[in-house]
Amino acid sequence: MFSHQPVLLHEAVEALHIRENGIYVDGTAGGGGHSEAIVKRLTGGRLIALDQDPDAVKAAAERLAPYSQAQVIHSNFRRIGSILDSLGIERIDGLLLDLGVSSHQLDTPQRGFSYQADAPLDMRMSREGATAADLVNALTVEELSSLFFRYGEEKFSRKIAAAIVREREKAPVLTTVQLAQIVCGAVPFAARRDGHPARRVFQALRIAVNGELDVIPQAIEAAFERLTVGGVIAVITFHSLEDRIVKQQLAALCRGCECPPDFPVCVCGKTPRARTLTRKPLEASRQELERNPRSRSAKLRAIQKIEQKGDGSHALF
Ligand SMILES: C[S@@+](CC[C@H](N)C(=O)[O-])C[C@H]1O[C@@H](n2cnc3c(N)ncnc32)[C@H](O)[C@@H]1O
Ligand SMILES: [Zn+2]
Repeated sequence: MFSHQPVLLHEAVEALHIRENGIYVDGTAGGGGHSEAIVKRLTGGRLIALDQDPDAVKAAAERLAPYSQAQVIHSNFRRIGSILDSLGIERIDGLLLDLGVSSHQLDTPQRGFSYQADAPLDMRMSREGATAADLVNALTVEELSSLFFRYGEEKFSRKIAAAIVREREKAPVLTTVQLAQIVCGAVPFAARRDGHPARRVFQALRIAVNGELDVIPQAIEAAFERLTVGGVIAVITFHSLEDRIVKQQLAALCRGCECPPDFPVCVCGKTPRARTLTRKPLEASRQELERNPRSRSAKLRAIQKIEQKGDGSHALF
């Protein structure tokens, strides 16, 4: 059974301003919750749902089987441009990204995402390429420390990296619990107040194993080029690193002008290409938080493409 409760479902589907004959891409199909809500609003049109995890593709394909407009494709969403080319689709009306891992991935111990269950240290959403264990056993102490600092914002990154290198000289670090214990032993007792001491290290490894941060701007840029005027890009993030990337990229599309703030007049001539639909990011309601604690850190941001005029002014549609 694939269990994942879609987060900010109503908010995300509303933000997309769905046109009943439009073409939509769900870049993170997961269990197909958002995809199903989108496709239900289509009378004609199409929904292309992507996921890099073969388990998710299977689950989403089953859920979306009753809808002739839906098509599920096994792919990383960074390849959105070439996927659309291969389908002969030039323009899309919307993209949804619901980033990160699904509850299904987190709750399946063998996938190695969780420090709460003992399993091989894997963490690959796609089940291809280097595992978390490969990184933990091969990177230098400096590389590990910088990875934990950059992707986990971990204060004790150096201490943890040094402890890992010491331990792996005795025996390779191959399981989730082995790693969690090394981390616990390396951080001061007082640091345990901020949740489980291994949380940030596991987040950092997951981001590195799956190249999670690099693919976000690639996908947004490719999708924006294909977006029709009035089309929407909506993104749900779950931690500050990915949210910062999304916030800055969407803001840049809405800002246009790139002149330094102290310039008296604009000399770059760049005009806004989109308008924001979420001046403040949308967050889960109290009811949703009660129902699904994993919605706690979710933030939804959305922009809508606007028509570009040569004279520096802009209008909607
Ligand atoms: C939070 S879940 C999405 C849940 C989904 N919206 C639903 O309603 O069930 C994130 C999903 O995105 C997938 N994913 C994450 N990064 C991806 C990427 N770069 N390309 C394709 N799929 C990705 C994961 O495998 C996971 O299944
Ligand atoms: Zn300017």
